[in-house]
Amino acid sequence: MPNQIINLFDLENLFNKKLPPDIAGYYNSGARDEITLKKNREVFHEYELLPKLLRDVSRIDTSTNLLNCLLKNPIILAPVAMQQMAHQDGEIASAKAAHIYGSPMTLSTSSNYSIEEVAHHNENLFFQLYFAKDRTITERMLKKTKKYGFKAIIFTVDAPQLGTRERDERNKFKMPDHLSLGNFKGTILEKFDNRDGSSMNMHNELLFDKSLTFEIIPWIKEVSELPVLVKGILRPDDALLCFKHGADGIIISNHGGRQLDTATPTLKQIEPIRKEVGKEKLLIVDGGIRRGTDILKCIALGANAVQIGRPILWGLNYGGEAGVGLVLDILLKEFIETMILTGCRNLSEITRDLVRKI
Ligand SMILES: Cc1cc2nc3c(=O)[nH]c(=O)nc-3n(C[C@H](O)[C@H](O)[C@H](O)COP(=O)(O)O)c2cc1C
Repeated sequence: MPNQIINLFDLENLFNKKLPPDIAGYYNSGARDEITLKKNREVFHEYELLPKLLRDVSRIDTSTNLLNCLLKNPIILAPVAMQQMAHQDGEIASAKAAHIYGSPMTLSTSSNYSIEEVAHHNENLFFQLYFAKDRTITERMLKKTKKYGFKAIIFTVDAPQLGTRERDERNKFKMPDHLSLGNFKGTILEKFDNRDGSSMNMHNELLFDKSLTFEIIPWIKEVSELPVLVKGILRPDDALLCFKHGADGIIISNHGGRQLDTATPTLKQIEPIRKEVGKEKLLIVDGGIRRGTDILKCIALGANAVQIGRPILWGLNYGGEAGVGLVLDILLKEFIETMILTGCRNLSEITRDLVRKI
């Protein structure tokens, strides 16, 4: 049957057929040879499951508590820039769909819809911060987030400059002229300058402050008055430094393979980072999560929750809010099936011994 949607890859295939190649290229691409992009996904096949049986799995509870938010499930929408290129309702549709499924939605600094436009569409909104060189812009965004009810700041640190996505260079990718970046209305950062290669480089030169160090974390906490989670950490020592400087959690991420190519796939880093920071610290992971079994493996290795990036765009393009809902529905059903088949009734029963590295 054509266009039958059974899993997230069916949505990915449709997305690639439907969108213009420059926009699909921007959304899909990874940095340089796209090794990390591929490995993020492949690494899941290197871990096998060892199911526990006869555990009375007649009732399954996927809920979890994170940053004092009671979540119905451990799936978070990662920050993904410029969602209106996938569907006109963009970030608003994502926020609404996530709300229905009890998932938090993270709004990117580089979103099309602004903080104020997306606020109130989801009770658990996080704001992802790219720390602009012009600190007044950063400060203004941070102050708004609390005012508009956001629950946490996701401080992305793996982008002191943009990793080169060669597909974007070849396609001379630029954001369509009718769109703008909602959080930068009235500033030089609202649109991209179209003079150079993919038009993103110059923009990001202005946006990303390369001089930042761990010392900035307390400043972000103070200005935003919100918990701060540091996104883009891959090393146990960096994870420890984040917590030493007051971070409330970290997100193990390589930006979906879009920054440093040949950086290690994220799944491999969960266990070493958990060992270094101890049991209590909040660890979230993203990169290549497409199946319910992937989620269970991440949690078994020590993550508290997971994030999805590109699947949001596949869902958005397929059907706006309903499409993102479909993505969450598919993933959740797969995750519950995996919990049942591995003998886990709740997240605390998803233990390390369920997973073996081949
Ligand atoms: C098109 C696109 C745009 C992204 N924009 C941002 C962003 O604005 N800020 C950020 O911290 N991460 C951004 N990311 C990275 C995601 O938050 C996330 O780390 C990654 O997509 C997870 O991998 P996955 O796409 O394989 O699920 C973006 C990723 C994609 C694919």
